[in-house]
Parts: sequence; structure tokens; C-alpha cells
Amino acid sequence: MNFKHAAILSAVCIPVMAWADSPQCAQSPGRVIKLCVSVHEGRATFEVSRSGKPVLAQSNLGLDFVGETPPHYSAIASVDRTSSDTTWEQPWGEERMIRDQHTEMTVRLRGDTPTNRSVNVTFRLFDDGIGLRYGYTAIPAGREVAVSADRTSFHTLGDYEAWWYQSLGQERDEYLYTHTDARRITLAETPLTLKGANGLYLSFHEAALIDFPSMLLAGNGAGTLSAWLMPWPDGVLARKTGPFTTPWRTVLITDSAAALADSRIELNLNEPNQLGDVAWFKPGKFIGVWWEMHINKSTWESGSRHGANTANVERYMDFAAKYGFDGVLAEGWNRGWDGDWIANGDQFSFTKSYPDFDMDAVVAYGRRLGVKLIGHNETAGAVTNYETQLEDAMRMYEEHGVAVVKTGYVRHSGEIIDASGGREWFAGQYMVRHNLHVAQVAAAHHIAIDAHEPVKDTGLRRTWPNMISREGARGQEYNAWGNPTNPPEHTVIIPFTRMLGGPMDFTPGIFDVAHGQQDVSRRVQSTVATQLAEYVVLYSPIQMAADLPESYEARLDAFQFIRDVPADWETSKTLQGDIGQFIVVARQQRSGKDWFLGALTNERARQLTQPLAFLASGKRYEAQIYRDGPGADYRTNPQPLTIEHRTVTRNDSLLIDMAPGGGTAVRFKCLD
Ligand code: NOJ
Ligand code: CA
Repeated sequence: MNFKHAAILSAVCIPVMAWADSPQCAQSPGRVIKLCVSVHEGRATFEVSRSGKPVLAQSNLGLDFVGETPPHYSAIASVDRTSSDTTWEQPWGEERMIRDQHTEMTVRLRGDTPTNRSVNVTFRLFDDGIGLRYGYTAIPAGREVAVSADRTSFHTLGDYEAWWYQSLGQERDEYLYTHTDARRITLAETPLTLKGANGLYLSFHEAALIDFPSMLLAGNGAGTLSAWLMPWPDGVLARKTGPFTTPWRTVLITDSAAALADSRIELNLNEPNQLGDVAWFKPGKFIGVWWEMHINKSTWESGSRHGANTANVERYMDFAAKYGFDGVLAEGWNRGWDGDWIANGDQFSFTKSYPDFDMDAVVAYGRRLGVKLIGHNETAGAVTNYETQLEDAMRMYEEHGVAVVKTGYVRHSGEIIDASGGREWFAGQYMVRHNLHVAQVAAAHHIAIDAHEPVKDTGLRRTWPNMISREGARGQEYNAWGNPTNPPEHTVIIPFTRMLGGPMDFTPGIFDVAHGQQDVSRRVQSTVATQLAEYVVLYSPIQMAADLPESYEARLDAFQFIRDVPADWETSKTLQGDIGQFIVVARQQRSGKDWFLGALTNERARQLTQPLAFLASGKRYEAQIYRDGPGADYRTNPQPLTIEHRTVTRNDSLLIDMAPGGGTAVRFKCLD
């Protein structure tokens, strides 16, 4: 079967005409998830069960609008049902072929205010969760409306633990997670992941966040989480022009943490590729003038310690060429870093370099070696300054053969100044628009964007496959100067939380984990094997080898894994794991036969038995195993690494033996 052109297997449309009975229900394709919508005493609500057991009790639906009273819903005016089973192809990604099998139910609610007189609520049901969105399709074209409240809520039942951080903090999404009873949630960023005493795992998020404010979730202390949208400076939540649809609000509902990580709901609820052939972006690995600034060996600003000078960048290019890397990032190449660059972001030039950085020469040098320059646009959140120069910046990069630009928005949330002088949250509607605008201008120049301090990922890479990666959580940079640095549990929390939204540019690969620090809470809190395993566990289509070239030259045996591991995959499977405890992920390289495995643990040593049944039948593989060596411990002895090679088949099991803060990385090189 040619999956690429797989047809819709069934599409049934059964409109139920006016004044349908309440409730109206639908079931997911495998009858795992059931959802019912009701209108009762003026409220429109939905409830969800899984395998017959209630998951969400009656939860509110609807938006309020400026100038109108909260609506009183009187009826479900009509119901449409469809089902669909298609398979589509990602140009790059963690999996090539994605199956989208769902049922859909759209109810038309009848309300008593002008804007809510007729509102569609569309539910998509998958066997591993749901999405819902509002369609204000009856608003006349061109009429402007302003959203004053999002009534959507999620009424959980029973006891849940949650991994979350208080949102609206000045460092945006760059916080360590706290682990509490879910009833203690005050205001949380999504994806918000819960583990139930009932054995269920839930994760709340949104998909296709386009021209709308980012949704946070407010807890009421009793299990109900309510949508809370990041407002404009005047308090309006969203400004829309009719007719419009909202982003999808999503709930993953599974019986294992691993199944959360392998859900494809996020991608399936985004629209298909609008960019066409994006062969101009190739997944790959890069190094860069980066860690040396974070550990204060050189500076972004000009002067005698300036890192991004021509000779230094060319030195990195030599290293990249020697060891097969695709790109070299050079941060601090442009004017504007001198002084307090976070406060003076409007001083950044995105086209003028410092005198000691010759872009033409660097690019020509790289071209001879087959290495591309990776662009860098740190904006310090001075968005209007960036937008003024955006077209020129992208054109200049395109002319220099730059295919990937890393952006940055280092500014406290709530302090981004918009074109009218208003103070914006980092993921309100203003910044959501800006992030997409940057990606669209970049796409016109065949440039891919890796956004740091971004709006959270909601799967837009499906529609705009040049939105390749984002930061949006505490990454490796915190292991240089964070106080404390990221504890070992961090990298076994984010695969089940932040990374359910999409790829993360975490920048793994620090071998000199102590980097001169005595105190473990100021070092990279991991073993060397962990740093290797992160390339498999923490998916991104561009992966940085973040350490200094000399750190790699000193450990060429370990470095071999970073050289070998791909950044683009045929398929991915989360084999085992639990939130904040451990994870084992296997991925098959795209257009190749090799498999790779990454395993991580938290601060506890852990032994796991992992069957290798994911390997192809009838094939032998050389397992190139990189594991924690004797006595390894992230606190006291992070360096020991044992590398061993042995022949395995899918009938074998691997004993994964991880030190405290440790990990295991394996390449299964196909021998047949
Ligand atoms: C924050 C980014 O996350 C980091 O990677 C970058 O080096 C600095 N900003 C400077 O742009
Ligand atoms: Ca950052």
C-alpha cells in the first residue's frame, strides 16, 4: 500500500437537524474515548470517559466577548459527525508516516448574545485523547470582535499528581518543574501533565496556536483547570475579525507515560504543509561559538575576548568539516551586544557585523569545506526593531547561503514593548502573530527558524515545516550558569511535558560536565553517557554538539556517538518510562536501517531490561553501547564511560544499567 496517498477510509456525515437532543455523544475510532456534550440551565458542557470510566466531569465550553453579557446557551441546534483515517508524510521529523484516525463531532450551540447566537464546537476524538475548538463562523466577514473570557474548563476527577511551574514568571518557560498534588496548581503553562491514582496519564495543551493568545490553565484547588489566555495590555484577550476559529484545546488520555510521548494528536490537529517542498531545510547537527560564552571563556560583546571573530568561527568550521557536522553557529557576530543588551535590544543590527567578523569570508571559507553558517538573531524582545529589519536580515542570510537562523527573545515576560508602547506577555496574541510572521518571512527566503524564548510549540511545524525547533524550557544553557543547574530529573520530565508540544533545541553534548565548578549544583548534573543519550531522547531536527571542540578532541571515543547519531527519523518509539523517573526511547534513522536507543534516569541508579523487539526481524545488528562506567555518579564521578560492541537480534534483551544521573546510548548498526 502506498501510504503517502492513503485515502480517507471512511467519511460519514450525518447532520442532525435543529434542536437536537442533549446530550450528544461520540466515540473514538477504537471506542476507547467517549465524549458527550450537553446544554443545561444555560451552560454548555462536555464530559469525557475512557474505557467506560469517567475522566472529565461536566466541563464548561464557550467564549465571552467584550460588550456582551456572558451567553446563556439554550440548545444544541445541530450536530454533524464524520470519521476519517488517513496517513500523511512529514518532510522531516521523529516519524515519517503519521496516521490520523479520528472521529469528529461538531455541535452548533444556540446562545442569547449577538456573537454567541451560533457557535460551532468541533470535537475530534482519537483513541489517545481529544481536541476541541470553537468556530465563530456566523460572524459576518470583516466584523471585529474582542474576546473577554475563555470559559473552557477541564473538570478532572480523583487524585492526580502534576508536573508544572507557575506561569507568567519573568523567565517565561525557563523554570524547573515542581511536582505536587494537581489541586495545588495555581496558574500553569501547557503542556500540563498529570498522573492519576487511577492509572491514567493526562496532558492538557493546545494545537495550532495561530493569531490567538496562548492558553494557560488556572486551578481552582478542587480539580478543575480553566483556560486563562495571556491578555493584550488593555486586558482584551484576543482580537479577531469574523468569521474565525480558535486553536484546538487538547487532552491526551493514556494509560502510560510512554503513550503520551508517542501521541501524534498535536501534529494531526494542525493543517497540512503550506510551504510545499522544503528540501532546502535538511535536518542535521551543528556546533558553534556558544558554550564558550555561556561559561565565560569569551564574550558576545566586542573587545579582546569577542568570541565570534573570523578566525575563531573558521576554527569551528575546520572542526565541523573534520568530524562531519553540517553547520556552525556564531552568536555575537552582529552589532548591538555592547553594554546591557537585554535592556537595549533596540540597538541590535541584524545586518551589520562587528569589525572582526567578516561574514563574506566566513561563508566562503565554510563553502570550501561544505559547512554552512547558522545565523543568529538575538532580539532581546525588541520586536519592533527586529520587524523593521527582518526582511533585510533574511535576504542577507539567504544571499550568504544560510539555511537556519536561531532567534532569541531574552526579555522578561510582560516587558516586551509593542508598536504602540504597550507591554506584552511573551506569548500573547501579539507575540503569537510575531513568531509566525518571522517564520513566514524566513520561509520566503528558504530559511528555517530555531526559536529560543519562543511561544510554546503547538505543532505548527506541520503547516510551516521551516518552524523546525524551539527552546521553550530550561535547556543546557542553565547548566553553564544556572543556580541551581538542571537536576537529573529535568531531562526525564520534559519528554512528558514540554516536549509533547514538539521538538526542543536543548543542545546536549557537554563532556566537560564540571566546567571548572566544584559545587555539583553549579555543574552539568549528569554523566557523559547521559549527554549522549539525550541526542536520542530529546528530539530535534537540528542537534547541537554544544561543548568546545577541545572537549571533544579529548574524548573522541565518546564523540563517535554524536558523530553517528542522526537528527531525522523514520520512526520513533518510547519503550518505557515514567515522569521524572526514567525514559527509554528507540528511533530508526530515516532512509536507513540503523536504530538508536537512548535511556536516561533521574538522580537514582537504575537497571532496566529492554527487549529489542523493535529491531527488524531476520537482521543482525552490532550494538555499539555507550554506558556509565564503573563508579560513575553525576555527583562525584561523572566521567567513566564504558563502550562495548556486541552482536544482537530482535530476540535479545539489553540490560540498561544506569548510574545516578546516568544514561545509556546505543547505536544498532545493521549488519545485513
Ligand atoms: C538565550 C538562548 O537560549 C541562548 O541559546 C543564547 O545563547 C542567548 N540567549 C544569547 O542569544
Ligand atoms: Ca533560553
